[in-house]
Amino acid sequence: MRHLIDFADVSLGQWRELYALTQEIWKDPGAFRDTLRGHVMASLFYEPSTRTNFSFQAAMQRLGGGVFGFNDPNASSAAKGETLKDTFIMVSGYADVIVTRHPCEGAALAGSMYSSVPVINAGDGGHFHPTQTLTDLATITRLRGGVDGLHIGICGDLKNGRTVHSLIRALKHFPSARLSLISPRELSVPQYLRGYMSENAIRFVESTRLEASLAQLDVLYMTRIQRERFLDPLEYERLKGVYVLTAQKLKAAKKDLLILHPLPRVDEIHADVDTDPRAAYFKQAEIGMTVRMALLLTLAKKPKEYPSYASGADKPRCENGRCITKRETYLPALSENGRCGYCDNLLP
Ligand code: NCD
Repeated sequence: MRHLIDFADVSLGQWRELYALTQEIWKDPGAFRDTLRGHVMASLFYEPSTRTNFSFQAAMQRLGGGVFGFNDPNASSAAKGETLKDTFIMVSGYADVIVTRHPCEGAALAGSMYSSVPVINAGDGGHFHPTQTLTDLATITRLRGGVDGLHIGICGDLKNGRTVHSLIRALKHFPSARLSLISPRELSVPQYLRGYMSENAIRFVESTRLEASLAQLDVLYMTRIQRERFLDPLEYERLKGVYVLTAQKLKAAKKDLLILHPLPRVDEIHADVDTDPRAAYFKQAEIGMTVRMALLLTLAKKPKEYPSYASGADKPRCENGRCITKRETYLPALSENGRCGYCDNLLP
């Protein structure tokens, strides 16, 4: 593993190694205090973040490393019109690892093409968020012993929820797990992920009603309706509040259900659930820091590799207005099975 862009690229062996390292850190955090001393992490956040950015910064500092970056693109040269390419070439000259979040789909992949150090995707628009998946898998494994055989319900905005997309990517490694995907029809998973689940023999059913499947679930992964991804504010108003998990509804659920949420929550989990012993979302956020320590330890010591600054004769043909190729127009065309290599949308 050089970059972490899409969880589909993480093998089961790599996941197991990361989790084993996470366990070692839990056992004796003090032993890791200086393991990245002299190393530097750049965090380039072109979109707001609390947990992801802070947990990466805390992770790096707990390993003895340094951190620089921005959490607001208006405070960087992006505001002057600097390209992603130039920023990544330059920042990779200063740092040993880059963590980045961007509103455009495919932005982390694009940045990695120009970086001489590993790039970690901390969220590219509504596309992927693989380090949240590390957090989710580590939480399930720590609190339930593993992912195999579990019935996992994922509920909310499955169209725009990037954490959901990356979690689905990871489930190819756990074929005995099964998924109930619960969303309004308008917010169901993108078609490319249905294809991915079929190709990778991931068992899934789709439904619109949380109450109907709640009693059978071992894990319930709630997500927020992603207001910032809606083109039509009225559509958001119509769909917000469609699922609200309450203490009352949980009476029908299993006694050992695990309730997860990548956070931030809006109203999809009522505060009366917080004291339920099955609610694990704050623990999950805490676990996210340790698993990110393991990831930084794995990537930040890799020797530099200077890329050949990809450019292509062909113009990207992607028509997705949220694809990074729409904003960074010098990017070379990338396609795979008729889909855009940056954002997975069908090419015309
Ligand atoms: C998620 C994100 O940014 O995609 N948050 C996180 O990283 N923990 C989920 C969300 O914003 O709803």
